[in-house]
Amino acid sequence: MNTFIEKANRYIAENKEKVNHRYRHKYHLMGQLGWINDPNGFSMYKDEFHLFYQYHPYSSKWGPMHWGHATSKDLISWNQEKIALGPIGEGSEGGAPFSGCAITDGEKHVLMYTENWPKRQVQSIATSDDGIHYKPYLNNPVISSDSLPKRSYIEDFRDPKIWSINGIFYAIISSRAEDSSGQILLYKSKDLYTWDYANIICQSHNQLGKMWECPDIFTIDDRDIMIVSPQYMDAQDDRFRNVHASLYMIGKLDYIQEKYTYQHYGEIDHGFDFYAPQTMIDHQNRRIMIAWMGMWERNMPTDDLKHNWAGSMTLPRVIELKDDKIIQKPIDEIINYRINEETYLWTLNEETLTHIKGSVSEISLEIENIDAKQFGIKVFKKDNEETVITYDVLSSKVIFDRSKSGHKIIGNPEKDDNSSIRKTDVDLINNKLKLHIFLDQSSIEVFIQDGLKVMTALVYPKGDSEHISLFSRDGYAKFDMKKWDIKR
Ligand code: FRU
Repeated sequence: MNTFIEKANRYIAENKEKVNHRYRHKYHLMGQLGWINDPNGFSMYKDEFHLFYQYHPYSSKWGPMHWGHATSKDLISWNQEKIALGPIGEGSEGGAPFSGCAITDGEKHVLMYTENWPKRQVQSIATSDDGIHYKPYLNNPVISSDSLPKRSYIEDFRDPKIWSINGIFYAIISSRAEDSSGQILLYKSKDLYTWDYANIICQSHNQLGKMWECPDIFTIDDRDIMIVSPQYMDAQDDRFRNVHASLYMIGKLDYIQEKYTYQHYGEIDHGFDFYAPQTMIDHQNRRIMIAWMGMWERNMPTDDLKHNWAGSMTLPRVIELKDDKIIQKPIDEIINYRINEETYLWTLNEETLTHIKGSVSEISLEIENIDAKQFGIKVFKKDNEETVITYDVLSSKVIFDRSKSGHKIIGNPEKDDNSSIRKTDVDLINNKLKLHIFLDQSSIEVFIQDGLKVMTALVYPKGDSEHISLFSRDGYAKFDMKKWDIKR
């Protein structure tokens, strides 16, 4: 057994009670303590969902990576398992396992991940027969820097994602090209252990961000959807305003030419805190995506406040395709956790100040018969604190405002616009806006118009700000709202 894994498991067992629970989520996956970032190895194995994650248990900051591991029957309640992978040597450049994926091969659960070494990243395999203990392959790495196309950076070669078709395994891996921007490499294998380099299937050419991290690809309705997480992508009006972005492309992977071409692209999530999404297909044939609910190069309030943890996952979302746009829907299983249903029907031309409360809650809101200029909902509200989601009729935008949400989240001033506002274009449909909102102590996910757009954000109210209010300005709007608490 890897001593770094043993040491981390022991550390977690001895220290996990030391987290402060004030902002801990109740139905989103987090580490037991310490820092987490990307989801890894999202898969089903022996009738259970498995989710691994980039994990540094020893502090609430990024550090030498391990793969944390959790299992679930329904993607909502998670069991924390022992650490699956750890570094081989000291420090983050001691072969620490960076992001990767999982696949089932016969009876085995197989992980492919990046080993991070000084100025070099390579791809390795670990296998398991029980979904708990993972053994690195003796002849790792299975893809070394030697197989990189010419003039690619050997230090930026990471985040493999595998799939198989007709007995052939394919892997796409992020790489940095000569022009310093992202390219996606395709590799092929018959057995998961011997890999041949195939081609550069797609390149950023510095058009859509720099290095593309965490690629994934899947097919829906004969369209191949590729998702990547571009670093330092330039904003396009209201889109891609975070330092690092989440991007989907809709196109075709030509397996003969080994080229990916796309006709459309878009931002996956229009909020603040969403990165490195990964998908899997489940036993019901659903394409399910989960992402890190966080962002690089910003402070994490739970770290500033010494709460001993930082980072969590989004709610798992089912992805569908409609009119060449991806639609994201919260996973249905959350319905089984609804309690305390409340129903409200109001026509308003002002702000309600009601008794409605909720901070671990789901809200379904339909707003129609609108003659107001602006309307919306405020959550995590009390006294001067509030997080505001507004629809502005004139500009047809949903506006997410966390300027009065509580503890400040500030990014690197040279790279981050540091705005507390995100906006996204949304058309009313039959003069109606639908918002489906999930609150979990310090997070908000807003699904707009049945998943056509999603905005995800972290907020850290300082007070016991649990009130929810509705408002309409310069005219009336009719609000039809249901609210549930989510069983903890
Ligand atoms: C993305 C990422 C990956 C890398 C991992 C390291 O957030 O930078 O590219 O494998 O995090 O933790």
